[in-house]
Amino acid sequence: MRLAINIDHIATLRNARGGTEPDPTEAARICEAAGASGVVCHLREDRRHIRDADVRSLRQSIKGKLDLEMGATDEIVRIALDIAPDFVTLVPEHRRELTTEDGLDVRANKHQLEGVIKTFHQHKIPVSLFINPLREQIDLAHEIGSDMIEIHTGEYAEARDTHKQYELLAQIRRGAAHAKSLGLGVNAGHGLDYLNVRPIAAIPAIDELSIGYAVIVRSLFVGLDNAVREMLALVQQ
Ligand code: PXP
Repeated sequence: MRLAINIDHIATLRNARGGTEPDPTEAARICEAAGASGVVCHLREDRRHIRDADVRSLRQSIKGKLDLEMGATDEIVRIALDIAPDFVTLVPEHRRELTTEDGLDVRANKHQLEGVIKTFHQHKIPVSLFINPLREQIDLAHEIGSDMIEIHTGEYAEARDTHKQYELLAQIRRGAAHAKSLGLGVNAGHGLDYLNVRPIAAIPAIDELSIGYAVIVRSLFVGLDNAVREMLALVQQ
């Protein structure tokens, strides 16, 4: 199981004072040195954290995989094609949300997503779709040519009721196995932390976890290197 670290909130902190520190690219270097297989960043339409120059700098400096999370808008697609990350993860994006709130509705956006996937494929950039672990969404993701899916684990992460959490975990497990049986790569993420990650990490069909907030928060107390190593130990147990 691979661990990719989302470094958006390094940029959130940097932007709070309008300067250059902490530097997301330096954070990415530390994450990789601690064992992360790649780095994730979300270039949002409002540029509230990661900026275009950050993605360019990451592209040049990281050794593992760069996953660019993005809404499927013309502007961001143009930038992504120019920067050429190792893959892109398409997410729904709403201006007022604090973070990505839901998975894509692949049925409702089928033609638009299919067009964007084709464009990326013409440039040899693989595409992942961030979706809920529902069979219909997974089948549609496969049908429109997605290479991977990222299963939205937010509902599982937020469930306070053990029974509900168990049900959601079973749904993620079924979804991951189904996606794998179709030949899709399977990533998962959102809301995962040091307490809830292990059952997700134990799902054999999941290839990679994408974790941000919990690791960046922990890094304030133990350092980024330790925070990544601690998460990696849980993920690989
Ligand atoms: N995956 C996706 C698609 C996301 O939008 C986010 C949040 O930026 C994450 C994973 C990471 O979530 P978290 O920061 O809660 O670990």
